[in-house]
Amino acid sequence: MVELSLGSNAVLSRLNEVFNASDGYCRNILSVITRKIPGSQYTGWMDCKMSDLLKKDIVEHSEQIRDKFEKVVILGVGGSYLGSKASLDFLCKDGGPDISFCGYNLSPDTYIKLLGDVKKNRTALIVISKSGTTIEPSVSLRIFLSELSKDRGNSVHVTAITDSSRGVLKKMATENNWKTFSVPDDIGGRFSVITPVGLLPLAIAGADIEAFSESFRKGRDRYTNLEFARNPAMVYSFARFNLLMMGFLNELFVTWQERSNYLGLWWQQLFGECEGKDSKGIFPSTIHCTRDLHSLGQYIQDGRKELFETFFYVKNDFQFEVPVLEINDKLDYIAGKQLSWINEQAKNGTKSAHEKSGRPVLEITVEKSDENSLGDLFAFLMFSAAFSSQFLGVNAFNQPGVEAYKKEMLKLLENCL
Ligand code: PA5
Repeated sequence: MVELSLGSNAVLSRLNEVFNASDGYCRNILSVITRKIPGSQYTGWMDCKMSDLLKKDIVEHSEQIRDKFEKVVILGVGGSYLGSKASLDFLCKDGGPDISFCGYNLSPDTYIKLLGDVKKNRTALIVISKSGTTIEPSVSLRIFLSELSKDRGNSVHVTAITDSSRGVLKKMATENNWKTFSVPDDIGGRFSVITPVGLLPLAIAGADIEAFSESFRKGRDRYTNLEFARNPAMVYSFARFNLLMMGFLNELFVTWQERSNYLGLWWQQLFGECEGKDSKGIFPSTIHCTRDLHSLGQYIQDGRKELFETFFYVKNDFQFEVPVLEINDKLDYIAGKQLSWINEQAKNGTKSAHEKSGRPVLEITVEKSDENSLGDLFAFLMFSAAFSSQFLGVNAFNQPGVEAYKKEMLKLLENCL
């Protein structure tokens, strides 16, 4: 289960009092939980539960893919990419087909690198797009179909995860007899990791999707508890809101284990797209430490004062020992120690240094990199984002700003016709 620490910031230590002193804050939370909020038609994730039928379908299809293919390429962008990439990296499962991602950019080098590999192996494609019209995965599907069908005729294995009735992708899937899974109408991209969008890749990787789904459901019960001090999602969202009111305009999600880096990118999308509208919102970005202490660390310690950090740390890390070695590198004092223990001291030392220079440091910890922690973490962050958006007075579930670049890009592309 997620644990949250608020660090040593004096204002944050009084949050409970501040929250309970105003009915308005409690009303904000209640309106999220009772779904009386803007965009409420996209709150299906709150009661999302994997049915037995869906589980059977996903497990059977994933087993076929695991049996027949050495490689899987997942094509998608935004919420149709980040959640499943984050989940697969975080769980570090071995033994299934090698899974790569594409269709999240328009950069030729991504294709040049991946296509060689794909052609050498038996490869299945999974294309994910709720709308079924997003240009990045659509172009990607065209490229992969063209390349793979050169050797395999029409026998390219494609699975489509898309809207149940609308969109070009759904139509193509029906025409070509591709297996499809639906993204529910009432769940938007950045909340869709608990639907087939996240579940199918997890099952192919060999993860326990029942445990994942069940821990999300239990998390939902925990993060809708109305008692402030017992609900970490309420505390996190309210802490962020208070920090913003105090002038902390930027939040850094700091990962300490490399397998969490895409969780950072998913978090960045979740909060960026939920909150960043109507000229409001905290600017979310993510860094990986200790790597970035040797670059952005300088700015965080000594630069402008408007940022706070949220550390993300997995308590039980992998065992990996610093070797005992007769060499004069002056490191004998850590010989034989666990690398994860050294990493933890780096984290605690960084927290202390940053707090001394006035940066608030919140910390989210989970027990292990497993399905239970992951499902619970997603529930925690999704509810936090919904609460935060409500404190700000914005609709968490739309993303009008994302459409702006598409319009301008399409104008340019169509002008060349
Ligand atoms: O959160 C969202 O809704 C977006 O980030 C979408 O996931 C992203 O734009 C991709 O959309 P689609 O799944 O329709 O291709």
